[in-house]
Amino acid sequence: MGQTTLFTREQIDNRVTEMGRQISTDFAGTEMIALCVLKGAVFFCADLVRQVSLDVALDFVQVSSYGNQKYSSGVVTILKEPQLDMRGKAVLIVEDIIDSGLSMREVFNYIEGRGASKVKTATFLDKPKARKVPFHADYVGFTIEPQFVVGYGLDFAEKYRNIPEVQVLSD
Ligand code: PRP
Repeated sequence: MGQTTLFTREQIDNRVTEMGRQISTDFAGTEMIALCVLKGAVFFCADLVRQVSLDVALDFVQVSSYGNQKYSSGVVTILKEPQLDMRGKAVLIVEDIIDSGLSMREVFNYIEGRGASKVKTATFLDKPKARKVPFHADYVGFTIEPQFVVGYGLDFAEKYRNIPEVQVLSD
């Protein structure tokens, strides 16, 4: 398998800093919760919240749709529920990638039902051409073509998550 760099550390840092600034402006005056979607978003979420100049509560949710496959099975299961009370809070759902849109749609609908005053979505990568259901994120790091990417939290069969940059995986 070959791997080529798609986004360097510097490109990632610059973009995440910009996103953090925008989110700081947009969420000012709210009680904000960043909801990290495990596992892929851990690195992005950790970097992003440290670029937000507000008090940010942190929580985690885990859904799984992929197993060890390269493509989505289409079945989204909630594996771990968030712990915080979301009522009256401004929740930012933080994802590493939106592909088919199935995972984000599931998390979004689930969180909307928990009484948050606002629910927004941030994704590090967006692959709009791979959508099976429509979903538009409020904050997008980079829009990419339908290629398989790894690193910065993104895995292939649990490998490559800890690569610091984003790489394209080819057969
Ligand atoms: C990946 C990724 C997103 C989702 C995107 O998660 O982290 O959550 O798939 O794909 P979709 O838009 O087609 O639903 P995965 O279920 O593989 O779990 P992981 O984050 O633990 O790798």
